[in-house]
Amino acid sequence: CRIRQYHFDVVLKNETKLCATKTIVTVNSKFPGPTLYAREDDNVLVRVTNHVQYNVTIHWHGVRQLRTCWSDGPAYITQCPIQPGQNFLYNFTLTGQRGTLLWHAHISWLRSTMYGAIVILPKKGVPYPFPKPDKEKVIILGEWWKADTEAVVNQATQTGLPPNISDAHTINGHTGPVPSCSSDDAYTLHVETGKIYLLRVVNAAVNDELFFKIAYHNLIVVEVDAAYTKPFKTDTLFLGPGQTTTALLKADQGTGKYLIAISPFMDTIVAVDNVTGTGYISYNRNLAFTPTTMVSIPAVNATPVTSTFSNSLRSLNSKDYPANVPLTVDYSLLFTIGVGINPCATCFNGSRAVADINNVSFVMPTTALLQAHYYGINGVFTDDFPGKPLMPFDYTKAPLSNLQTTNGTKVYRLAYNSTVQLVIQGNSIIAPDSHPTHLHGCNFFVVGRGIGNFDPEKDPLEFNLVDPVERNTVSVPTAGWTAIRFRVDNPGVWFFHCHLEVHTTWGLKMAFLVEDGKGPNESIEPPPSDLPMC
Ligand code: C2O
Repeated sequence: CRIRQYHFDVVLKNETKLCATKTIVTVNSKFPGPTLYAREDDNVLVRVTNHVQYNVTIHWHGVRQLRTCWSDGPAYITQCPIQPGQNFLYNFTLTGQRGTLLWHAHISWLRSTMYGAIVILPKKGVPYPFPKPDKEKVIILGEWWKADTEAVVNQATQTGLPPNISDAHTINGHTGPVPSCSSDDAYTLHVETGKIYLLRVVNAAVNDELFFKIAYHNLIVVEVDAAYTKPFKTDTLFLGPGQTTTALLKADQGTGKYLIAISPFMDTIVAVDNVTGTGYISYNRNLAFTPTTMVSIPAVNATPVTSTFSNSLRSLNSKDYPANVPLTVDYSLLFTIGVGINPCATCFNGSRAVADINNVSFVMPTTALLQAHYYGINGVFTDDFPGKPLMPFDYTKAPLSNLQTTNGTKVYRLAYNSTVQLVIQGNSIIAPDSHPTHLHGCNFFVVGRGIGNFDPEKDPLEFNLVDPVERNTVSVPTAGWTAIRFRVDNPGVWFFHCHLEVHTTWGLKMAFLVEDGKGPNESIEPPPSDLPMC
């Protein structure tokens, strides 16, 4: 294996979209940011230098970070931010991982413009477990606000109101044609008839789960979140923010241009940016603009499309890539997640939107949890995060008794190398909502999924413990639940949160503290000497 070195310079850039120019925070003046290429087992070194007036951190979403928790990136969880003028070297190894992931800023809402793909190729000489593609392409989906996104989140936090929705969806940074603007700002993928393309599709959006579709073409899904799947054919991909899907596209049409469309999924009565992002695949380089062939886009509330897609995902579970699903469980946890309203004297309506896990709304500390853990600094967090809801109730209804949340910076302790079953139950304190939830530091197997209340007697009998899909981010269905299992083979402090940034901001987050009993100083590598201080 090799060492791969990257320099990420965090700089401002003017970017024009939707007929207006604004200044955005970028890596290396690129939007989207640079793609990080490596092979399985390579050591990656990224020197991040902060040239802007904001504090920054970068998270390598889905990278396991075995014993290198210091390089994980979530601000105030594993590290203090890199302050203006400072730099920090992220140093990690891609142990046993291959496929597509993403990196993004992990502080405030800077990830709206600071994101890029991570492509992990198999080890030299090791083939893909699917037909070799002729070409590979990264397709990274995002959201665009006309306003400055830091202003959007700050205003929401102050008023207690939901933040403004985005103004467009983007494909590799392009919105698609904007009727009132003269330029055709569309991403185009040029293809040749008969060739096979491997599309590495990444959802880097801030607040929207997305459908992805190409007119008149099917896709064969082969990998999600850097874990191989049993191949399956579909005309629509469904990705929550933080999720990746790698799929084969056979260019099996003759000539012309075909629309690529990305559109949001939201099966609840919440305002959503309903603007379809469009691009093209084009069969003829030299042809001037030709009329495009339309695509039928799933409705914004097309729940069945999301269920079909989620239920089709299975681990490859081959001899070379077995699915090591934990068959026994050391910790059986139930987390309810949702959005509610708390009183707030200084807010616009006397109340503010909050989000919680087991009725605890997480308060960001001012010292990183991992530093507090490693150096034994008291008073930064408590370890009394509840492993079960405090007040069990019918999660499909909203009784007043469970409306309120408490605030806290609480972690849940797990013993190193133990196994966890975690049922994530969506509640309906205000309205049921779909939540793409993400675990740092460990992949998990999605062993079950259902609508309504999780039944601890009946539902586990239906769990797939043979070939469940392995991933790092999973969509918990509206007014339903998802069950995951994982082995905690990675000591450190691992963030767990909804990957809709609006819900994270409101407190739908917590952290696991994984210890191996040897004390923090033996179980993880010592902190790097240039680790930023708060
Ligand atoms: Cu992709 Cu904690 O995030």
